[in-house]
Amino acid sequence: MDFQSKFALNCQILNADLYRHHRLSVQLIRADQVHGLVSGNKWFKLKYSLLGAIEKNIGQVVSFGGAYSNHIHALAYAANALGLKSVGLIRGQWSEDNQTLQDARSWGMQLISLTREQYRQKHDADFIKNLQAQYPQAMIIPEGGSNNTALKGVAELMGLIEQQATGLDCLVAACGTGGTLAGLIAGARSTQSVLGIPVLKGAGFLNNDIERLLYNAKLNAKCAWQLDLEGHYGGYAKVKTEHLVHMAALEQQHNVMLDPVYTAKMWRRFDELVTQGFFASGSKIALLHSGGLQGRRGFGLEVAGLKNN
Ligand SMILES: Cc1ncc(COP(=O)(O)O)c(C=O)c1O
Repeated sequence: MDFQSKFALNCQILNADLYRHHRLSVQLIRADQVHGLVSGNKWFKLKYSLLGAIEKNIGQVVSFGGAYSNHIHALAYAANALGLKSVGLIRGQWSEDNQTLQDARSWGMQLISLTREQYRQKHDADFIKNLQAQYPQAMIIPEGGSNNTALKGVAELMGLIEQQATGLDCLVAACGTGGTLAGLIAGARSTQSVLGIPVLKGAGFLNNDIERLLYNAKLNAKCAWQLDLEGHYGGYAKVKTEHLVHMAALEQQHNVMLDPVYTAKMWRRFDELVTQGFFASGSKIALLHSGGLQGRRGFGLEVAGLKNN
């Protein structure tokens, strides 16, 4: 199955008094529309891992995630569509009602619980070695899919963005593990800048993680980049009512659907930065809609085309 041939990247011009007032041209990169189930950053991150597994005759992939993980959801679907077996190592306990995991299971993913303590070892060399011994025929993909090949796939996404949004000065994207941002940085031109908004509290460590991801993938940053650490609004997956109110206002104003954990926080913080005069007047800016809509169900929100809890 060739996901890539189905992809068309749309750009949505964002009209808002706030942007006009600050003389900014702002667009939303609708990567959420590239595929119904492997949307946003996901196929770009997974593409070379999955195609690499097929090429090397590796029939199984194993990866990690939380009970509402967009990565696990997309991996389960894409692996199944490509004829690969998949195993999801899921953090902590989960409820059988959880629709993200029900979907993953329906696409053939074997789900295994890891205690929070076990899950914390996900990057430890010994832990990975044992896991590989347990699944000798499998490709182990790190949490969020953020391995070397993910950066290559996301750098291609940056190329597609440039084709749609020519003359771009700055790209803004939400950060979890930093893999997406590292790929965007690798694909950006020297005249551009990339701004990452981590959705985790105290995510300064991502500066090093992103440098390390780029170094390990043998990729260089030609562009300027930085992280803004104030866009977590309470921490990872912490969603207060006022955040949902902000999200709903953005959705209504721009006729778009967002997820509360990643894209709504990124956009909310972007608007605050615009208000503070962070961006130079006349700049052309793009916000990356990195998908994640299936995760809305964890907050009791609807998603067209997907079952709710
Ligand atoms: C919708 C969405 N946006 C952004 C991200 C951040 O990606 P990364 O982990 O590569 O930083 C994720 C991570 O899973 C995501 O699901």
